[in-house]
Amino acid sequence: GLKIATIGGGSSYTPELVEGFIKRYEELPIRELWLVDIEAGKEKLEIVGELAKRMIKKAGLPIEVHLTLDREAALKDADFVTTQFRVGLLEARAKDERIPLKYNVLGQETNGPGGLFKGLRTIPVIIDICNDIERLCPDAWLINFTNPAGMVTEAVLRYTNIKKVVGLCNVPIGIEMGIAKLLDVDHDRIKIDFAGLNHMVYGLDVYLDGVSVKDKVINLLTDPENTSFVKNIDGLGWEPAFIRALNALTCPYHNYYYKSQDMLEKTKKEAEEKGTRAEVVLKLEKELFELYKDPNLAIKPPQLEERGGAYYSDAAVRLITSIYTDKRDIQPVNTKNNGAIASLPSDSAVEISCVITKDGPKPIAIGDLPVAVRGLVQQIKSFERISAEAAATGDYDKAVLALTINPLTPSDTVAREIVDEMMEAHKEHLPLF
Ligand code: NAD
Ligand code: G6P
Ligand code: MN
Repeated sequence: GLKIATIGGGSSYTPELVEGFIKRYEELPIRELWLVDIEAGKEKLEIVGELAKRMIKKAGLPIEVHLTLDREAALKDADFVTTQFRVGLLEARAKDERIPLKYNVLGQETNGPGGLFKGLRTIPVIIDICNDIERLCPDAWLINFTNPAGMVTEAVLRYTNIKKVVGLCNVPIGIEMGIAKLLDVDHDRIKIDFAGLNHMVYGLDVYLDGVSVKDKVINLLTDPENTSFVKNIDGLGWEPAFIRALNALTCPYHNYYYKSQDMLEKTKKEAEEKGTRAEVVLKLEKELFELYKDPNLAIKPPQLEERGGAYYSDAAVRLITSIYTDKRDIQPVNTKNNGAIASLPSDSAVEISCVITKDGPKPIAIGDLPVAVRGLVQQIKSFERISAEAAATGDYDKAVLALTINPLTPSDTVAREIVDEMMEAHKEHLPLF
């Protein structure tokens, strides 16, 4: 039997994961699931952990669920470690989203200043976790869902000894599901060749039953109605000429780069009218946890699909299953490039379609990225690298540099001002600065 340790076990996404483990139990015989959290998340851990136990009992499976604040006990001899934690909780995210708006810069969880500061808070913790993994379960695979997932994977590759790491995002699977819906076919008939970075990924081709339907899909994407693929971002729609000439599938986060002004205005307006996304999610989370408390509830409630991370369980559990069974199917994940994308450093993390084997993901080589997207992708990778370095070493100047080279920041001075205000606002979670 397998042992899984989930760090940030009090997350409202845990029932997703448990549902995934239940569905694939035949292929993935889990004996122990350890949900770990910290003192601040104790209550959430209790509530979600009891729901997980009820779900497993209802399914009649012999999986033991352990709830603990003791990370070492959870990691000891684990086979897979999944991470889904949020340093500073949603209160910190709300600051990431609000402070930049004062400077007329986008406030968002994983992009621009918000992405930088979520990375600065998270990376020292993931480095600590990796040091524990090295000691307590050196053969385990680390499946990281914690954002900013691309930057976090980059940091693990560069600043720890852990090699068995995979970064995971639900956006690629969300796009595949969305395209399947547009074409009115089952999800498993659609395959997309993904390449790029986390939240900066492109679909270079798309297939229905193995035959390219890219022209048809690009045509569908000229209709604004057809461009929303995750709950947390409403696509504003593309200029048909732009999307036709780009001739690739975009991801929802591209709205922030190719429609920067419109998305900034929209984000500001929403913050005023209904609060930032973190403030909206705080309410949603309260409602979810009220539902989770019901002792008669023993399934994942459908309301969870209002969160941006929908289908996370499918992505995580099918990845773990394919590693465990050496399935060699194709899945988009974040992994070391190893030359698969010629336009990006070989030793950097990329998000790309991979063959999933017992030795991990093997990226499928694509050569160079299309010339229209190459520069932006390289720039974002440089932002992630310098941000990760700032986070791992506590280097203030590098944090200012990272934000200055980000395409969403207008100047070095604005970057420095935002960094100063956000360092102050987040100081309890930034011990290295
Ligand atoms: P959340 O606010 O519910 O936090 C999850 C848990 O992490 C909380 O119970 C909290 O107490 C715990 N935690 C905080 N610091 C911790 C630490 N040092 N050790 C252990 N646990 C700790 O967050 P959420 O909304 O469930 O999201 C969890 C994470 O997953 C976030 O980082 C979020 O950005 C990420 N996420 C990623 C994707 C993706 O596509 N990769 C999608 C959705 C969410
Ligand atoms: C998905 C992304 C995640 C992101 C999340 C936000 O789009 O893949 O990386 O953080 O949704 O969802 P939320 O419901 O927390 O706003
Ligand atoms: Mn994501």
